[in-house]
Formats: sequence, C-alpha cells, structure tokens
Amino acid sequence: MDKLAIIGGRPLYGELPISGAKNSALKVMVATLLSDQPLVLDNVPMLADIKQLTALLEQHGASIEREGARLTLHTPEVVSTTAPYELVRKMRASFNVLGPLLARMGEAKVSLPGGCAIGARPVDLHLKALEAMGAKIELEEGYVIASAKGGLKGAEVTFPFISVGATEHAMLAATLAKGQTVLKNAAREPEIIDLAECLNAMGAKVEDAGTSTIVITGVDRLDGGTHAVVPDRIEAGSYALAVGATGGELLLSHARLELLGAAKDSFEQAGIHMVQEEGGIRVTKDFDRPKPVNVVTQAYPGFPTDLQAQFMAVMAIADGVSTMKETIFENRYMHAPELARMGCDIHIDGQLATVRGKAVLKGAPVMATDLRASMSLIIAGLVAEGQTLVSRLYHLDRGFEKLDQKLHGVGALVERVKEDD
Ligand code: UD1
Repeated sequence: MDKLAIIGGRPLYGELPISGAKNSALKVMVATLLSDQPLVLDNVPMLADIKQLTALLEQHGASIEREGARLTLHTPEVVSTTAPYELVRKMRASFNVLGPLLARMGEAKVSLPGGCAIGARPVDLHLKALEAMGAKIELEEGYVIASAKGGLKGAEVTFPFISVGATEHAMLAATLAKGQTVLKNAAREPEIIDLAECLNAMGAKVEDAGTSTIVITGVDRLDGGTHAVVPDRIEAGSYALAVGATGGELLLSHARLELLGAAKDSFEQAGIHMVQEEGGIRVTKDFDRPKPVNVVTQAYPGFPTDLQAQFMAVMAIADGVSTMKETIFENRYMHAPELARMGCDIHIDGQLATVRGKAVLKGAPVMATDLRASMSLIIAGLVAEGQTLVSRLYHLDRGFEKLDQKLHGVGALVERVKEDD
C-alpha cells in the first residue's frame, strides 16, 4: 500500500491534463451489456474502479480491450446473469449491471453494492424504477434477484428525490423496454447527458437528458457505437482548488467550465478565477488568502458533494469563517478530523461544518478515508508547512488518474512511497 509524501508551500504552474470522468465512464461501460455489438469508448481514465468494473463485465461475458484511453467492449453473449458479492461490494457503480442484464436476459441476480463509506447509500429508488417497468424483485442473502419474463415495459417513474445512480440505472434499463418510459425528477448531472449520448450512439431513443424529465422510447435492439467520455468536472474542480490553496496558474487542459455548475460561482467568491480557453480552463487566484464562502451541497447544478471535502481544505486557510452544509450524504465529514491534525479549525454539528480559516497549516501524517477526502488532504498538504504523509492511497487510486505525476508536472513536491518505507 502506497503513501503520498508532500512538501507543501510551492505554487503550481503549467498545464495539467484532465482525464475522462470516472463517474461517467463507469456508467457508459455497463451499456455493453445491452448490445451484442462492439462499443468503443474514448477518454476512459486508467483507474482502479475501471479495472474493477472490467472484471465484473468480463465475468458476464464481455471482452474488453484497452489501447491508451480507448476501451473496446464487446458482449456477443451474456454468459452469466449473476454479479457476485466479491466483484460488486467494492464499488457502487457495479450495481448498475442489474437493469441491463434484466433488459437483455429477462433475469439477473446482483449483490447489493458497496462503495465509499460515506453513508447508508441504499438502492431502493433503483429497485422501485425497475419494478415500475414490470420487474419482479426479491432480496435474498444480500442479493437482489430480479426477473422480467416477458421483458421490461415502459413506465412513468417519479423519483421522490434526485438520485444520479437511480436515474442512470432506469435509463439503461428503459432503452430496451417495450414502449415509452418517462423519468420525472430525474438527475441533471453532465454524466447523465453523457450516458444518454452514448446510448443514442448505440441506437437508443433517449430525449431531454439534462432536464428533470427524461423520455426514453424503447427499441428492440441496440447496436454498437463510439463515444468519448465527458471530461471529469470533479478532477478539474479539485485541481482548481489546489491552485486556490497554493497560488500559481494552471491550464486544466480538456476541462470544460460549463460542467462545473454552481461550484464556479463559489470558487469565484473565494478568489479562485477560472476562464474557459480553447484548450481548457485557465485557473488563477487572488494574491491574498481565499475569502470565506458558505456552500450547501446539492444535486447538479448545485455545489457537488464530490467537491465538498476539497473546498473545505481551501476554506481552512481562508481569511475568516465559512460554513459547509452536506445534504447528500450523512457521513461525509470524515476528512475533518484528519484536516484538524494539520491545524485546521473545523467544528462539525450534524450536516453543518464551520471552518475558521488559519493563516498557516502544518504538515502531518494523515489517513485518507474516502476518495474525495483523500484529495482534500492532498490540497491541505500542498499548502502546509513541512511534510504531509497521506496514507491509504488506494482510495485515491480509485478516482484520480496519475495524480502524483500530474502534480509533479506542475511543480508540486510530491512522491509516492511504499507504505512500509
Ligand atoms: C452521488 C452524487 C453524485 C456523486 C456520487 C459519488 C448527488 C445527487 N449524487 O451519486 O453527484 O458523484 O454520489 O460521490 O449529488 N438514495 C436513496 N435511495 C436510492 C438511491 C439513492 O436513498 O435508491 C440516496 C443516497 O443515499 C443519497 C442520495 O439519495 O443520500 C443521492 O444519491 P445518488 O445520487 O443516487 O448517489 P450516487 O449515484 O452515488
């Protein structure tokens, strides 16, 4: 197990490439189960989560080949409709094989998912959507056993609250259902639009993705297709926040500013400026300390929960007091006690975090607790005095491609060391 050693205090300068979005790539890869023709995906990041899903899809009968950032997936035949616990437990996105298996094969047995330890994260909305489409669902010993003998049927599904995972899952399943499916109160994340574009490239009829009502007209079969995964807005936002902490100037190549939604305004208020250029987003920061900004995490286009931990690291050096309210997950402040080890002054009360900015943070040994939390510790480490040693780096390897190389390339003093070194 690796650690990341960081010597803080260096501003970041240069060009840093932004990869394809993990959260999008995982969902579009699953679409291979809907067709017996090859699906070619470009801009797929090389990450532990992608490898994990590759193993699961291969187990279902997919052959998957990688050439650089291009992944070619082909599932001429589904050889197993069971997704075992060992392959599903590590990552929540794996659960989304259920709908496609059900749509193509009329049956599926899928283990209940795992993922980051950031709250209860149930899948009831996923199951209700599939039931509305005619699936029979039973739960047995940690597995969902689903069947739809005559195939899935189009249905109107109104989500009681916004769920990205359930919206994507219902979209995947509805592409092959008989008739029309209408998803109301659907999530509007850029990753939803990306999935719709991929499915449509395969011959599906998905309309109005990106709005809160998505209409899917089922087709008899899906073809192959080619699709490029959208750039990762969370990775881009994270490196922009790193500049917010250390200063300097970065060109986040390939990144698209419009994908950042409300986060852009919060960054601007903090003194982090982002401008869209032809090659990507240019990030600069005001000379003085960041200004305190209050944020509330919300579904897109609100401030993303996946940037909350990283924003907290920047607020920890802000010139004043800021608050963060986490409304998506109930246990997503695990980075706060670790940041406190570096001198951050953070008080947590339920959903609310109050951060009193300090002029100086001190490097310390800290432990990553989940994927985005790891990045928050790294941002704090980049601005802290002395050395920070971030352990449990495997969390980070799930979702940030070549992080140490990318940071090294823009002047950060970072080094990956073996856990027992
Ligand atoms: C969520 C985030 C997404 C982020 C991802 C990884 C939102 C709306 N979603 O997506 O941006 O990239 O985590 O960190 O910000 N829920 C249920 N029942 C369900 C499904 C979800 O109660 O069947 C709850 C979840 O526990 C959570 C909320 O709904 O409190 C939103 O969850 P959802 O959007 O589905 O989670 P992810 O798809 O993991």
